[in-house]
Amino acid sequence: MKKITKAVFPVAGMGSRFLPATKASPKEMMAVVDKPLIQYAVEEAVAAGITDMVFITGRNKRAIEDHFDKAYELEAELEMRNKIELLRIVREVIPSHVNCIYIRQSAPLGLGHAVLCAKPVIQDEPFAVILADDLIDGKTAIVKQMVDVFNRQRCSILGVQNVPRDQTGQYGIVSTTPLVTDLEEVNGIVEKPDPKDAPSTLAVVGRYVLTARIFHHLENVRAGAGGEIQLTDGLAALMQEERMLAYRFEGTRYDCGSKLGYLQASVALGLQHPEVKAEFEAYLKALKLEM
Ligand code: G1P
Repeated sequence: MKKITKAVFPVAGMGSRFLPATKASPKEMMAVVDKPLIQYAVEEAVAAGITDMVFITGRNKRAIEDHFDKAYELEAELEMRNKIELLRIVREVIPSHVNCIYIRQSAPLGLGHAVLCAKPVIQDEPFAVILADDLIDGKTAIVKQMVDVFNRQRCSILGVQNVPRDQTGQYGIVSTTPLVTDLEEVNGIVEKPDPKDAPSTLAVVGRYVLTARIFHHLENVRAGAGGEIQLTDGLAALMQEERMLAYRFEGTRYDCGSKLGYLQASVALGLQHPEVKAEFEAYLKALKLEM
């Protein structure tokens, strides 16, 4: 059975929750401490042994292509000034064995449509989908955890976590039957249900490992919630014919599509960053005393 070598990054979204910051630059390029969100997502895929990164882009997303491309002028400048450490950082944005593939989604027709745009590259292989908005900090990269589960279970896997009931309207919510500690069999999924209608509080949070059969279903689903072609609706159809599992991953997830989540991620990762952590921690402690 095939190995997972490809990850899809839907990055065509507008980022309206971060306007005006996202007026002229992609939300995926917003930095947490010193790395853009999309780089965290790509590093997670690299840690899972994935070698082909498929970005589904849209208008105003050129900065993402530039970020993962070689920066000749910048490298020459840093070399000339003997800035060896900075040169290393710039060169290590992406390992040389990794390929970046860009597919343009011409209209914002939804997450399901974005994933479907990757079909010509993915063809009939299983693959990962990573939403860069969801930054997940874990000892083992989350996609790696999920690829490991896939290698044992050979079926589609959804990364899930419990959310407060009043937030079900922000997520795809699954209904499940528990299997083992961190795995559950998925029997149903609905996109952004009202808290009173939600079948559970187990939410899908931006990490998927899918079989290629999803494309067949995405080709057939109609526009759903919000008038968009929803990945959730494709998943609901897929689970009628294939087993699907929900995986409670180990790690802390920050919703960097929201201002609060983004600030929380900045604090958490700032406190881990070797260059600033000591001073930052002292600053936060002093701040707490003042408040
Ligand atoms: C998307 C999906 C939703 C999922 C969420 C995770 O929603 O449609 O099912 O729970 O990502 O972040 P979005 O946040 O793009 O509205």
